[in-house]
Amino acid sequence: MTFKEEIQRRRTFGIISHPDAGKTTLTEKLLLFGGAIQEAGAVKNNKIKKTATSDFMEIERQRGISVATSVLAFIYRDKKINILDTPGHKDFAEDTFRTLTAVDSVIVVIDVAKGVEEQTEKLVSVCRMRNIPIIVFINKLDREGKDAFDLLDEVEQKLGLRVTPLSFPIGMGYDFKGIYNIYEKNINLFSGESKKNIEETIAFDSLESSELENVIGENAAATLRDDLELVDGVYPPFDQKAYLEGTLQPVFFGSALNNFGVRELLDCFIDIAPTPKAKMAEERMVESDETALTGFVFKIHANMDPKHRDRLAFVKIVSGTFERNKPYLHVRQGKKLKFSSPNAFFAEKKEIVDISYPGDIVGLHDTGNFKIGDTLTEGEQLNYKGIPSFSPEHFRYINNADPMKSKQLYKGIDQLMDEGVAQLFTLELNGRKVIGTVGALQFEVIQYRLEHEYGAKCSYENFPVFKACWVEAEDPKNDEFKEFKRIKQKFLAQDKQGQTVFLADSQFSLQMTQQKYPSVKLHFTSEFN
Ligand code: G4P
Repeated sequence: MTFKEEIQRRRTFGIISHPDAGKTTLTEKLLLFGGAIQEAGAVKNNKIKKTATSDFMEIERQRGISVATSVLAFIYRDKKINILDTPGHKDFAEDTFRTLTAVDSVIVVIDVAKGVEEQTEKLVSVCRMRNIPIIVFINKLDREGKDAFDLLDEVEQKLGLRVTPLSFPIGMGYDFKGIYNIYEKNINLFSGESKKNIEETIAFDSLESSELENVIGENAAATLRDDLELVDGVYPPFDQKAYLEGTLQPVFFGSALNNFGVRELLDCFIDIAPTPKAKMAEERMVESDETALTGFVFKIHANMDPKHRDRLAFVKIVSGTFERNKPYLHVRQGKKLKFSSPNAFFAEKKEIVDISYPGDIVGLHDTGNFKIGDTLTEGEQLNYKGIPSFSPEHFRYINNADPMKSKQLYKGIDQLMDEGVAQLFTLELNGRKVIGTVGALQFEVIQYRLEHEYGAKCSYENFPVFKACWVEAEDPKNDEFKEFKRIKQKFLAQDKQGQTVFLADSQFSLQMTQQKYPSVKLHFTSEFN
């Protein structure tokens, strides 16, 4: 296969959802279709279980297990599919945001009864910011849920999407009969109590055919005809270009658990989803079919075994091929590195590979060279645009609890921040260090890991902050900005990249500050240029 054919056959995407909507189940069913696993349950290990939310060691253990399943790859209809795992757990939302920088498209799973939930809204807004092509899968149609049209409205309004259904359910819950595949113009009927198998696929070029009554009954046929007429009248026709540009989102209905509607989704996905895309670097646009390797680190996973403090850096290949034992330039550090055992990911295991292509993810063993956002090239001075940080939700001062170990403490904090466990802010006024996290759980994780991996001890002190906002001055020399810096000095800090951050202590003070200093822009993410 030629280099270009290898690129054309790759589809790298993420499945995102609010916890419990069915992301794990859908992932598993896709792997089953690809023949990559033999039985259901294989991916379940990957899940951070609900019962364990207060037990961070258990979560970390499960995160350890999840290294291998961070990327699930399989072949289906000769296409190489890479599914990037995104933790649904709210406390690991940052991980998910970063993973979204490495996908070429996403599938959003929504529970038919619950509709659009909070976590889905957040994740989809990040995808929209980046114009990532989105397919929506409305799951659990075997249960009673909301009316299909109401749900489509909800998806449009709450997620700000422009949808077009490509499949439509025939009945729901107890009366569920099958799926009309709008994309392929046929009906899949399901059989048996569990409705696990497709009984028959019947092509229906014209829904006016009286055969429809024979197949699904008079009432269902009339309802389906009405529904599809409405679909036709209300929603725009499918347009692949608009989908790829992120301005039109196809919707599928089904039940991952019962395996219906999943094949329709997968077959259409293979046809329409983007192949590895070009990516903007600070210097220039990089096309995926350029022959020189470029890639960037989007995730770092620490080894939980304290005796082997190596980490696995996940690199998304943007262009060229990644070859074992070939030297590559670590652009930020300006040094060449060789990797003797790059890992590739297949189904639920990882293996050493000799060559990987654009769209693929390689896992590189790292002893502290990498941080999230780093770029690798064959020599070109190229930097992929940074991966944005979002305002943390929880903030605490971090203090050194063992003065003999301050070197270890700072090294530990430094490395944990490079991994993206939390964010570090240094107050401008007195140099004190503040840790900001997405979930309260991370404070325990940091304390535990500092002690067990770095031999350092820390303690925390409350620091009431409502939001961290990245500061952009219209003109750093104007009097308004100078006054802002003087008056708000107590609340100003620097993030790890040296950007100025305003730590607002309440919604009120944030609003007042915005009103008083209109030329000072306050951003909720670190990426605003
Ligand atoms: P998540 O990764 O998005 O968090 O969701 P997951 O797939 O784990 O699914 C959450 C729950 O919803 C699971 O039940 C799963 O079996 C169920 N589920 C997924 N798809 C469907 C579907 O199409 N129909 C129905 N009725 N249920 C579905 P659980 O009881 O929490 O877990 P388990 O004990 O079954 O593993």
